[in-house]
Amino acid sequence: MSEQAPQDLLSIPPLNTEVIGGEILIFGQIDSTNEHALNRGGEGAVFIADKQTAGRGRHGRSWHSAPGLGLWFSIAFESPMEGLLFAGALAVRDALRPFIEVTFKWPNDVLAGGKKVCGILVEHRQARSALGIGINVRHRPEDFPEELREHATSLELATGHPVERCVVLRDVLHKLDGRVKLLQSGGLEELRREWAEACRLTGRRIRFEDMEGTVADIDSTGALIIATSQGRRRLISGAVTVLSGA
Ligand code: BTN
Repeated sequence: MSEQAPQDLLSIPPLNTEVIGGEILIFGQIDSTNEHALNRGGEGAVFIADKQTAGRGRHGRSWHSAPGLGLWFSIAFESPMEGLLFAGALAVRDALRPFIEVTFKWPNDVLAGGKKVCGILVEHRQARSALGIGINVRHRPEDFPEELREHATSLELATGHPVERCVVLRDVLHKLDGRVKLLQSGGLEELRREWAEACRLTGRRIRFEDMEGTVADIDSTGALIIATSQGRRRLISGAVTVLSGA
């Protein structure tokens, strides 16, 4: 640990979980919690950092991970587990419910009031998986880099109330424990269905680059199955525009 972790992150209330949080490692500053979870830790080990120097998002983008403001954490799994995105997103939604109702923006954003409050990054390396979750908690608008300001929010901005990071963290880990246990006992299809329903894309007409079609389904990897005039296409990620539908 290169810098001391702040007191509020060190005071996580008891978890009472079975799979998640057998080991909890809290850092003042590290490169990326996902990087650590991909390299070490037993099943369900949690890596938390107050600040990430190389926090990463999807498509090789960096993830703004300033100290004192957010929850930047990853959970390690000792197998290449499918469905972690569904488990993570649903756990975040359920844990945030006492604070705010969130929506999902396909493929892996969690929005509050139409702005991004949380991003999720699942990575696999060799026989391991990492579920990385970044939640903006205490940011004021000026805490975000200028280019993010219009599209990003935090729990405190969205609720108008002070929010304790360790309470949110405890609740997410607790909800995640239930979701991951379901996944490990064959519940992938149940989680996929619940997540797909919450994304509200099935049956909608969408455009992606020069492709237009109707979302027929979302598969077990989270990809959109799109019925187009040229047949079915599978879309793993990208900025889709919703044209019409349910
Ligand atoms: C995205 O929306 O692009 C995904 C962002 C994921 C950020 C989290 S913060 C904790 C974990 N460690 C990382 O380096 N990234 C994820």
